[in-house]
Amino acid sequence: MLATIDNPSNAVEWAIAEMINQPDILNRACEELDQIVGKDRLVDESDLPMLNYIKACAKEAYRLHPIAPFNVPHVSIKDTTVGGYFIPKGSHVLLSRPGLGRNPRVWEDPLIYKPERHIVNKDSKVVLVDHELCMLSFSTGRRGCPGIVLGSTMTTILLARLIQGFSWTAPSNGPNSIDLVESEGDLLMAKPLIAQAVLRLEPHVYLELM
Ligand code: HEM
Repeated sequence: MLATIDNPSNAVEWAIAEMINQPDILNRACEELDQIVGKDRLVDESDLPMLNYIKACAKEAYRLHPIAPFNVPHVSIKDTTVGGYFIPKGSHVLLSRPGLGRNPRVWEDPLIYKPERHIVNKDSKVVLVDHELCMLSFSTGRRGCPGIVLGSTMTTILLARLIQGFSWTAPSNGPNSIDLVESEGDLLMAKPLIAQAVLRLEPHVYLELM
């Protein structure tokens, strides 16, 4: 339950907060949805393969805002060497998620939310998992997450529906940007996102959900 509900909701909360502060990104995501899905029906699972930019927005949230500082601990079952480091049998191995996702030797402007970085060329298909471990969303290998397809689908459809269904801005009675500070104990938003959502589709479209 923790993995399946908290991972997508944390990623989507951060993604929308970041996008409110960078309206060009939000507009580009809306344009993709309007072009591929239109405004007469809600985005559906069958649309997801075509929503490359939305997926890049979700992946960027996983890179920059992992839900926890470390991956699940593992113990090495034999002596091994990884990246030039000797890891003796019995070592407790912890992977730092921000250490990977915000590594300046791997990512340009690592602290900036920039979904475009995941779209290498116009034919590239964005996937939320990174088997190269340049970032850690689902991890990889034999103990990697077996729920990649379901987890990716849940994250992408949640983000896509919230962006398609509503125009998002900072609340009108406060500063016009979202405070993107993370909490000290973990990496969640220090202040849960409060934003203004205005319907952007015809009322009959929302009735599909009832
Ligand atoms: C967006 C959602 C999800 C994310 C980001 C996520 C991420 C992860 C991560 C990072 C691990 C640890 C991998 C490791 O230790 O190397 C993990 C393990 C696991 N996940 Fe997920 N997960 C998600 C959704 C799901 C779903 C939907 C399921 C099942 C339906 C699932 C089932 C599991 C299981 C069973 C493990 C333990 C695997 C093992 O230790 O062998 N996860 N997940």
